[in-house]
Amino acid sequence: MSLRLRVRLGHGVLSWALVLLLALVLSDLQVRAHRVLDPDFQEKYFEQYLDHFNFENFGNRTFGQRFLLSDKFWKKGEGPVFFYTGNEGDIWAFANNSGFMVELAAQQEALLIFAEHRYYGQSLPFGIQSTQRGYIQLLTIEQALADFAVLLQALQQDLGAQDAPTIAFGGSYGGMLSAYMRMKYPHLVAGALAASAPVLAVAGLGNSYQFFQDVTADFSDQSPKCAQAVQDAFRQIKDLFLQGAYDTISQDFGTCQPLSSTEDLTQLFGFARNAFTVLAMMDYPYPTDFLGHLPANPVRVGCERLLSEDQRIVGLRALAGLVYNSSGLEPCYDIYRLYQSCADPTGCGNGSDAKAWDYQACTEINLTFDSNNVTDMFPDLPFTNALRQQYCLDTWGVWPRPDWLQTSFWGGDLKAASNIIFSNGDLDPWAGGGIQNNLSSSVIAVTIEGGAHHLDLRASNPEDPASVVEARKLEATLIHEWVKAARWKQ
Ligand SMILES: *[C@@H]1O[C@H](CO)[C@@H](O)[C@H](O)[C@H]1NC(C)=O
Ligand SMILES: *[C@@H]1O[C@H](CO)[C@@H](O)[C@H](O)[C@H]1NC(C)=O
Ligand SMILES: *[C@@H]1O[C@H](CO)[C@@H](O)[C@H](O)[C@H]1NC(C)=O
Ligand SMILES: *[C@@H]1O[C@H](CO)[C@@H](O)[C@H](O)[C@H]1NC(C)=O
Ligand SMILES: *[C@@H]1O[C@H](CO)[C@@H](O)[C@H](O)[C@H]1NC(C)=O
Ligand SMILES: *[C@@H]1O[C@H](CO)[C@@H](O)[C@H](O)[C@H]1NC(C)=O
Ligand SMILES: *[C@@H]1O[C@H](CO)[C@@H](O)[C@H](O)[C@H]1NC(C)=O
Repeated sequence: MSLRLRVRLGHGVLSWALVLLLALVLSDLQVRAHRVLDPDFQEKYFEQYLDHFNFENFGNRTFGQRFLLSDKFWKKGEGPVFFYTGNEGDIWAFANNSGFMVELAAQQEALLIFAEHRYYGQSLPFGIQSTQRGYIQLLTIEQALADFAVLLQALQQDLGAQDAPTIAFGGSYGGMLSAYMRMKYPHLVAGALAASAPVLAVAGLGNSYQFFQDVTADFSDQSPKCAQAVQDAFRQIKDLFLQGAYDTISQDFGTCQPLSSTEDLTQLFGFARNAFTVLAMMDYPYPTDFLGHLPANPVRVGCERLLSEDQRIVGLRALAGLVYNSSGLEPCYDIYRLYQSCADPTGCGNGSDAKAWDYQACTEINLTFDSNNVTDMFPDLPFTNALRQQYCLDTWGVWPRPDWLQTSFWGGDLKAASNIIFSNGDLDPWAGGGIQNNLSSSVIAVTIEGGAHHLDLRASNPEDPASVVEARKLEATLIHEWVKAARWKQ
């Protein structure tokens, strides 16, 4: 403003030049502040034990575990290690969507490591056969954590970072793993940021109606009319189905094949419900490319699409298009190809990663969420313990153990834990399955108002709500304190 004043007063060419120069410098600063920091990750492989807990079967056999490394910001001898405990997918996807860790590494001069989880991405113990029965048995949380511990120790040794305190980071399942790392290997990990980690739900301590109830809440908070329209659309589909008007459903909703059985109806319901799950989890205030291409505020956009159609089923089709037709290239919905139901009713994705996740949801990770058309806006789609058991026996020949994570990773009894931040966004349907109260002076719960699934892990953005800016500040402070305290003890 003062610059403009000077110009008006007209001090000649020199002040104009000065104004121009200052303007250039300022705009460059602004661009820099918003430019995503590039850590220039190096992609590497580590020779990892196949089986940490059995000395006979696989003996010394190893596989290539992928990880990403950046020492661009690291101040050797002083800076800590920030270690992302990879979750159920390609490690690049998490590295690309965890910009906060990069920004914090730049601030706190940390070494960055993103470790891929065994059986996902390129870290396949038995190549493409890995997710077949007979090969998938080495996929457990315990093995994955042991991988992280062994990899971390080896890298610290190689890089001369033995004395660098390590902080574990993760989001969602990766958030569970970061907390578990602190609990299982506290001599290696000084603290953990567990973002959107549903540690209670997965250990059988959740409420099976909570998830879809909270997805519904996101849409009814957007507008009660929207949630009502969703329920109406599902009712109309069911009514048409009961009347045998299969072609009408196909035409209005845009399925590639006409429905012909109750299985088809259930598949269509699961397919459609999954679109809402994705929109609720990814309800960020700016466009993202994490679970597909989504616009800013996808819940609002979804409701607008739905309500702009006169016919509810056509509106539901338009909303689902945000998730299944973002390319605009799907002439119709192939509901069995675009959505595969599995042991996780919130979706497994497709391909090899999806199979691995299905196996985890059939063994240690308890995700029996149902919708019921009473506490939520969705059709009644039960997924009881009995249904899970039957599915898992048929698919993998295994019996789930719903209580195992309570034994192995303490369930909600975290009195003996320390230095863990459990952060959750209040828009995130996973928040209800996580830790939402401070449990001690160092096991802290942070609630992010207006935050979707691990928004805090994402790079800062001009559209961020104030709550997430605050949450990141608190996280940065606590992490800095943990690192200092760990240095002190050395
Ligand atoms: C197993 O690994 C150890 C240590 O690396 C090595 O000394 C030993 O020869 C290996 N044994 C076999 C059977 O490969
Ligand atoms: C991650 O980002 C890089 C660089 O933008 C891109 O080439 C790559 O496809 C992304 N990978 C994933 C899995 O998102
Ligand atoms: C998981 O497991 C138990 C069985 O012990 C079940 O009753 C519970 O409701 C399940 N679901 C969740 C989300 O906790
Ligand atoms: C949901 O419940 C309403 C009210 O009971 C009912 O009219 C409707 O048919 C149900 N919808 C579905 C899809 O079952
Ligand atoms: C996908 O988008 C295109 C372009 O908007 C549209 O023509 C097509 O009908 C959509 N597919 C479905 C199944 O709605
Ligand atoms: C998974 O689905 C996406 C989008 O529908 C598709 O582009 C991709 O090819 C599928 N991948 C596999 C392995 O089936
Ligand atoms: C937990 O404690 C932190 C500060 O130590 C505070 O900022 C936060 O609001 C508390 N969380 C809850 C859920 O009360």
